[in-house]
Formats: sequence, structure tokens, C-alpha cells
Amino acid sequence: MELAITLHHQANAPLHRQLYDALRQLILAGRLTPGERVPSSRALALSLGVSRTTVTQSYDQLISEGYLQTAIGSGTKVCHQLPEELLRPAPVKRTLKTATAKTRRQVRPLRLSAYGNSLTDVEPFEPHETETPIHFKSGRPALDEFPLRLWRRLLLRHYRTSNARMLDYADNAQGYRPLRETLAGYISRSRAVNCEAEQIIIVNGSQQALDLITQVLIERGDTVALENPGYLGARRAFLAQGAKLLPIPVDDAGLAVETLAAHSSINPKVVYVTPSHQFPTGAVLSLPRRFELLKWAEHTEALIIEDDYDSEFRYSSRPIPALQGLADSHSVIYVGTFSKILFPALRVGYMVVPEPLTRVFARAKWLADRQTPIVEQRVLRDFIKEGHLERHLRRMRTLYDRRRQTLVRALQYHCGERVEILGENAGMHLMARVQVKMSDEEFVQAARQEGVGLVSARLYYLKNARRDEFVLGYAGLSERKIQEGVRRLAKIVKEH
Ligand SMILES: Cc1ncc(COP(=O)(O)O)c(C=O)c1O
Repeated sequence: MELAITLHHQANAPLHRQLYDALRQLILAGRLTPGERVPSSRALALSLGVSRTTVTQSYDQLISEGYLQTAIGSGTKVCHQLPEELLRPAPVKRTLKTATAKTRRQVRPLRLSAYGNSLTDVEPFEPHETETPIHFKSGRPALDEFPLRLWRRLLLRHYRTSNARMLDYADNAQGYRPLRETLAGYISRSRAVNCEAEQIIIVNGSQQALDLITQVLIERGDTVALENPGYLGARRAFLAQGAKLLPIPVDDAGLAVETLAAHSSINPKVVYVTPSHQFPTGAVLSLPRRFELLKWAEHTEALIIEDDYDSEFRYSSRPIPALQGLADSHSVIYVGTFSKILFPALRVGYMVVPEPLTRVFARAKWLADRQTPIVEQRVLRDFIKEGHLERHLRRMRTLYDRRRQTLVRALQYHCGERVEILGENAGMHLMARVQVKMSDEEFVQAARQEGVGLVSARLYYLKNARRDEFVLGYAGLSERKIQEGVRRLAKIVKEH
């Protein structure tokens, strides 16, 4: 007997657990009927391409839970009485048909809120990343270069102190005060952000900041202007809240502010921008445009969300001050993250909010999750205060710059005129326009077959998506891998 079971070798759940779940579902759905024989462990292992131990482990589990039974000489069968039935108060004798109908009836309709319903359309956040040997993942730092030993030492320092108070709820949802003070100094020096520690809210990555901003500021039906193409994490947070999206084009000086201004009658409540390094084009919002944008926001009373996710990595141009620091009013919420400069699993980011909004955001943060984990905040504060962050950043800047140059040179050398590079002077990724006579999907698929992962930029457009644009993250790849990856991509380009 062939069983329609698909196991995912890359998934986190072990194969025997996946197989156990699949078999249990088949039994509960009545597809494997009471008394029916299941395939021998050898036959099932063979048909699924897994080891026999995997199958026996799942069978053993199902036997111990009362779904399957074995009898000498007659193999393994589905039990006549399933554990689900034993748990019911008044067991009723039922045919398989009624059992199936009952099982179906138990699946209650999902009575979701408007927010919950809007999430059903939200695709997985990033395109599915297969484990290709050379993956130009965007936004991934060189994790193998992170000073883990040092981080561990700092962690231990805090865990070693027998300060039981540290284990309690924090008395302030805004975050560990010494970290906020240190951060205020750091962002005012490095990004010309103008703030006091009181205006900082420590959050679990910038995604939480975007989520809190949408909840606190956006009503169903409000208009949010955003860059087109733009960052999916922001777009999806606004959509989930029921916002109407107003896509504004981007050129090589960043957001086209005059187009935004032309839409003022629509009255966007919020505009979301990535001015330091537009995601994904890499354009840097020019200084004149920054002033135009601030003037527009002042005039329309819109709030600007400035997502400054990777501005620490800048290679040739002089830094342009953050919008927040140029504004003398309450028109900007500045959002920063440690996902790029340290590591994404840390889940620490921060927002700098205009002073009148601090209380409401502190309450929203408290409601969301009380606080960001305190030990990590303490360690991070030491990491910055003791100069490790600056040191790490210097090293990473040099490393990423080398990787970036390697990528640019390799693309130019191997693909020549068939590739145009955008936004190469900042960040951890660049965008490339590649001339090939195939669709983006075909190109991505062909690359995957060559063992190279990359993403088409179409995903990031709300409208007027261009063909032939691809996002190539380089920060996490060695120079050797970058060169090899481009060589493989160039082979496809030449053949098409
Ligand atoms: C534009 C942009 N903002 C923010 C983030 C980081 O999000 P988080 O801090 O939640 O990890 C990313 C990550 O890729 C990004 O591309």
C-alpha cells in the first residue's frame, strides 16, 4: 500500500515526528480505517526514502498511544478504538462515516477579527529560502564573524552576579535605562539623531516597532504612503491593520517626494521611508529631498517613519544626517535595529519617538510583551559602552566593503554590459538589473539549479514592477563564494 505522505528533510521537525503526525492524521481522517493493516516498516521506509529506524520510531509512538497495534503473524494494524474516542465521556458505537463527519465537525469555523482575517493573506515573510550552497541572502550579516566568545563572556558576567532583581519584571516597559542612555549618545554621534533617553523605546527588533506604530497610529482605512519598491515587513504590518497603501516611486535620489506631494489631497497619515539605504534599490535620499519631505510632513501633519536599518554600512559617500535630526518638530519616528550590526536572533531594536508620544508607545509595548529581555539589554549596553560595538563595526565595514567590491567587480567582469548595478555604495546588499531573455522566476530557478540563491525584486513592488531586477546580499558570503556565485550566474546570462 502506497501512502500519500510528504516529508521535508530540511524542516526543523525530525523525520520520525513528521511521519508520526502524518500517519496520525490519516487515521483520524478515516483514510486508514480501523483494523486496516499499515505497510511494513521496511516497505514504508523504502517508498518514503527514509531509514527503517525512522519508520519504526513513528510506529512505536503510535502503538504506545493506542493508534496502532501489532499481533504476531498479522503485522501492524489501526486500532478499532482510537484514543480520541476513549477520551469522550459517553462512547457511542459509530461507523467510519460518522466518525469522519464528527472529526470534520470538530474543526470549528475560524471566527477571526478583521486583523486576524487580514493575516490569512499574508504570505510567509521572505521568499522560501532553500539551502542553496551560495545564497545571496539580503540583510544577513557575517554571522561567523560575530565575536561570540566576547558576547558569552558579557552574558556570563550578568548571570554570575546573583542579582535576583534582574529576574523580575522590569519597572519600565521602555527598556533598560542605562542602555537607552548609551544608545542616545551613540545615535546622536553616529546618525545625528536628536534625542533624550526618555524618547527611546527598546523593542524586539524593528519589526516590533513597525507593529506598535501601526497599532498606535493607524486606523482601518487610513492611508499610508510608502516606497515602491519597498520593505515587505512594513508593508505587511500596515496592510494587516487595514491601511490603504499609497505607493510612491523611488529613483536614484530616493523617494520621489514631489510625487508624494502631488497626492496630498489623499492626506496620508504616515509615510514610511528607508532614507539611508532605500530597500531594496539602495538609493540614498538626497539632502534636498530630505528637507522637502520634512516640509511636506510639517505642512500635511503626516508622521514620517524613518527606518534606518543598515546605515552603519556606508563605504564611499559622506553620511547624511538622519531625517530625525534634521527635523525640528515632532514629525519623525526613527527606528533602528541591531539585527544587521550584531545578529538578527538578538531581537533588539529601538524607536525614537517624539516626546508627546512616549507614554502611549511605552504602554503599547507593555501590553505587547511587558519588556524586551533584560539580560540582553544589559549585555548590549556593556558591548556599546566598552567600545566593542565600534570595533566590531569597523571590522565589518572593512569586510563588507571588500565583499561588496568583489561582487561589483565580478558582476562587471563576468556579465559586462548585461548587468547594471544599483545602490552599491551602502549597506549589505545591492540590486542588479540583469538582461536575460527569461522571466525573473525562470532566472531564479535556473540559478537555484546552479546552486545559487537570489531574489527577484518584483516581490517588493506594489505596482509597476520591473522585470529583470534582482537583490544580491553579499555581507554574509566569503569573497570566494561571491566570485563563484557570480560565475555561475554569468553562465546563465550568457546562455540566454
Ligand atoms: C528595511 C528593513 N528594515 C528592518 C529590517 C530588520 O528587521 P528586524 O530588526 O525586525 O530584524 C530589515 C531586515 O531585513 C529590513 O530590510
